[in-house]
Amino acid sequence: MKTILYDKLQKQIIITGLMIAFIPLVLTGTIIYFQFAGMFQDKIEAQMRYRSRAQAETVDLFLKERTAILTAMADTHLFHDLLQENKLAQLFKIMNQRAGAFMDLGVIDASGIQQAYVGPYNLKGADYYSQQWFAEVMSKGLYVSDVYMGYRNMPHFIIAVRRQENDTIWILRATVDSDIFEGIVRSAKIGKTGDAYIVNREGIFQTPPRFHGKILDPSGIDPNLFGRGTTLLELEKENGEPRLLAGSRLANDKWLLIISEVKAEEAEGLIQARNIEIGVMVIGAILIVVATIFATRRTIHLLEYTDSKMSRLNAQLVQSDKLAALGKMAAGIAHEINNPLAVIIQKTGWMEDLLEEEEFQNSKNLEELKKSIQKIEFHVERARKVVHSMLGYARRMEPRQEDVDVYDTLNQTIALLENYARLSNIRITIESAEDLPIIASDQGQLQQVFMNLLSNAIDAVGKDGIIKVITEKTASQIIVRVIDNGPGIPKDRQKKVFEPFFTTKHGGDKGMGLGLWISYTIMEKMGGSLNFVSEEGKGTTFNVQIPIVIPEKK
Ligand SMILES: Nc1ncnc2c1ncn2[C@@H]1O[C@H](COP(=O)(O)OP(=O)(O)OP(=O)(O)O)[C@@H](O)[C@H]1O
Ligand SMILES: [Mg+2]
Repeated sequence: MKTILYDKLQKQIIITGLMIAFIPLVLTGTIIYFQFAGMFQDKIEAQMRYRSRAQAETVDLFLKERTAILTAMADTHLFHDLLQENKLAQLFKIMNQRAGAFMDLGVIDASGIQQAYVGPYNLKGADYYSQQWFAEVMSKGLYVSDVYMGYRNMPHFIIAVRRQENDTIWILRATVDSDIFEGIVRSAKIGKTGDAYIVNREGIFQTPPRFHGKILDPSGIDPNLFGRGTTLLELEKENGEPRLLAGSRLANDKWLLIISEVKAEEAEGLIQARNIEIGVMVIGAILIVVATIFATRRTIHLLEYTDSKMSRLNAQLVQSDKLAALGKMAAGIAHEINNPLAVIIQKTGWMEDLLEEEEFQNSKNLEELKKSIQKIEFHVERARKVVHSMLGYARRMEPRQEDVDVYDTLNQTIALLENYARLSNIRITIESAEDLPIIASDQGQLQQVFMNLLSNAIDAVGKDGIIKVITEKTASQIIVRVIDNGPGIPKDRQKKVFEPFFTTKHGGDKGMGLGLWISYTIMEKMGGSLNFVSEEGKGTTFNVQIPIVIPEKK
């Protein structure tokens, strides 16, 4: 019953303790994680925006430089001069020395025919009149094309400027090496999944992407989703993982530079941080669980121990209360009986005297009468013995304070009983702790206690055995143990042995059942105690605890 109660209590304490510890732990862990995740996300996004913008500026600068040099050349040369191939070749050489990345250079007249050309292809005389870019440069004055295949069947784009020279209108046109251009764009990609490319207004790749597609393929990206400046978008691609795209419009307003990254890679740092946090929390949780269970168990054990000690003390208290009440009652009865017994003894004495007179000498019942009187006297004597031992004890309740050597007292008592014991072939040995102190106590009462315990032990052993007496010393007590190897005291009898008049020794005038009661009461009065341990079939040990009181110096 009690253990169930303790188990329940233990469970409740553990559960409450864990909840109190875990709720704040999980709460702080979650809050920290989400705070951190938010910050991390912001940082990643800011970084991608920055990279996209910076790369767009680099590309813008590249285009601006090429356009500026081409415009400067057109402004500073005459159509007529540039028709000479060596002049044009020299110009081409200077342009590449100054800026680079030009693949060829051509001069086109107002009817769209290329009149002069330097470069790797044979394009002199080519007719561009019907091409869209030609119309555009004629109307706008400057034109940068999208990337296209054209005559040469490889991706490239052109920059063209229109010049007006009196009546003559002509066009200077250069092709830009798309390899160098791609290189600049590509330098922006980072990581395992990062990519950087340019798409035009229709979403066609202007530079080759690193994954999923070639130059001039449709990218599947709708450039209208991106606003002016730099825009960050999350796109779910058909082929799986969501990607983050940071797109920046270029100055020409036709092209969009896109930096793209797979979300998972960008979140790798975050996942790592989360795993570390989870690890720390798990270790913390394990520590909390172990500590809670350990502390609770200890507390419950302590509680159980104190509880059982308390109930043992309680039982002892009840026992000594009961014994004291019984003792008072018995002493009262003894006192009441004492006077009638005296009267009876006096009267039987007188009756015995009377029987000696002549008139009774001849009575045929004389012997019968004498026997009866003797029987009365025997039983009255027995009753008086009981009464006396009770009254004698009651009279001298308060113990005296004299110098007592416990070891000596024991030896004296053993000497008194030795002969009696030897008759039944019982040996009494004594084993004493060294330097037992002389204490202030009542020697007569101690002797009475030892006497009772030793005679009980002799009675219990009956024949052929050993009784051991051991003394021990603690800080506050001298302990005397009387150990016999008799039959022991059965469990159901153990509670009763200290009660007055409890005896198992019937027949004759052997036992009155007062020995243990008197001894118990003496020890209590003295501030010590008397208890025993007994196992049926093995023997009994009575323990006398005598308080150490150092005698005052006289
Ligand atoms: N060492 C022991 N071994 C076994 N039983 C014991 C022992 N000491 C006491 N008892 C039991 O306890 C009972 C009570 O003992 P107690 O000394 O009070 O009375 P008693 O010995 O029967 O009579 P009295 O001591 O008054 O002559 C005994 O009758 C006996 O049954
Ligand atoms: Mg006895």
